[in-house]
Amino acid sequence: MAAFPFQIKATDGAARTGALTTSRGEIRTPAFMPVGTAATVKALTVDQVRSTGADIILGNTYHLMLRPTAERIHRLGGLHRFMRWDGPILTDSGGFQVMSLSKISKVTEEAVTFQSHIDGSKHKLSPERSIEIQADLLGSDIVMQLDECVSWPAEHSRAAKAVGLSARWGARCKAAFGERETQALFGIQQGSTFADLRRESSERLVEIGFDGYALGGLAVGEGHEAMCEVLDYAPGLLPADRPRYLMGVGKPVDLVEAVARGVDMFDCVLPTRSGRHGQAWTWEGPITLKNARFAEDYTPLDPGSDCPASRDYSKAYLHHLVKAEEILGQVLLSWHNIAFFQALMAAMRAAITEGRFEAFRKAFHERHGTA
Ligand code: GUN
Repeated sequence: MAAFPFQIKATDGAARTGALTTSRGEIRTPAFMPVGTAATVKALTVDQVRSTGADIILGNTYHLMLRPTAERIHRLGGLHRFMRWDGPILTDSGGFQVMSLSKISKVTEEAVTFQSHIDGSKHKLSPERSIEIQADLLGSDIVMQLDECVSWPAEHSRAAKAVGLSARWGARCKAAFGERETQALFGIQQGSTFADLRRESSERLVEIGFDGYALGGLAVGEGHEAMCEVLDYAPGLLPADRPRYLMGVGKPVDLVEAVARGVDMFDCVLPTRSGRHGQAWTWEGPITLKNARFAEDYTPLDPGSDCPASRDYSKAYLHHLVKAEEILGQVLLSWHNIAFFQALMAAMRAAITEGRFEAFRKAFHERHGTA
């Protein structure tokens, strides 16, 4: 019996909408998970995050094991209590962040060893340790297997090696995780842009048996078109009755195209990171608030939004805050962007439910452009 029931309430083409019911509440899918890397969704309080309609947030093993350490968070009552977020939390397993952030890293069959990007200290992350950190110490609701993601472009032989190692690590993660009532374990499909490897990866993961399945190794530089080509077949290799999670994606156009191809969950730093850099995402596409054309624009970013950041502040004021490098500019744009991403997911859920996803998709592209 899978840990969390996943109910698909409606489908429209390959797109699906439903809910994953965790012990900390329901995740409406398709879902976008704001990234709370270091026990904070940067610049926002948990109340602000919750007000946007986010059902679940993401945390990172890599950052938290280094600072303030998983043991300290455990002593303080776990990650939910520590950061005051009582909804579900999904944690990434650490390997991907080691590759992208740590100074030096080495992958062996046993584990990945690396030097901290903070103080150069040496650490080892094995599949068993990643599960201990995520499931036992942080108390994550959705735990990700440790995997190896190759950079892009990758040779077939290199990508094949990562598929094999990720499958063996997946089996070790499953053994360490065991059976749990109130936590779920997701496997991660790898295989770069090779269809045969994506298939092999999926078959090996399904044989191990996970509560959900992620698509990893995408949005690593291959571009929107190449990613969509993989998404034309890769979600269909994974069990239809379990949630499918596209890791690290993406821009609004990526989300719409991935939902059209049967993806249920997403996470990305984009809304918060671009917000801190003065960019706002809107139904008409992204805008750069620093631009002089907003200096006396008294309209808000989205008058129809429930989010105070989107509705109550003029672009002229946001332009001023960004130009003056005021902290409030970063707060309001992060808040607005997360609210916009949640509104986009809600609009997709409604369109699928009402059987008009294709019309929504077409209208979205016409209005939003390709950015
Ligand atoms: N985040 C974005 N892509 C990946 C991936 O391939 N693996 C993991 N673990 N995290 C990711």
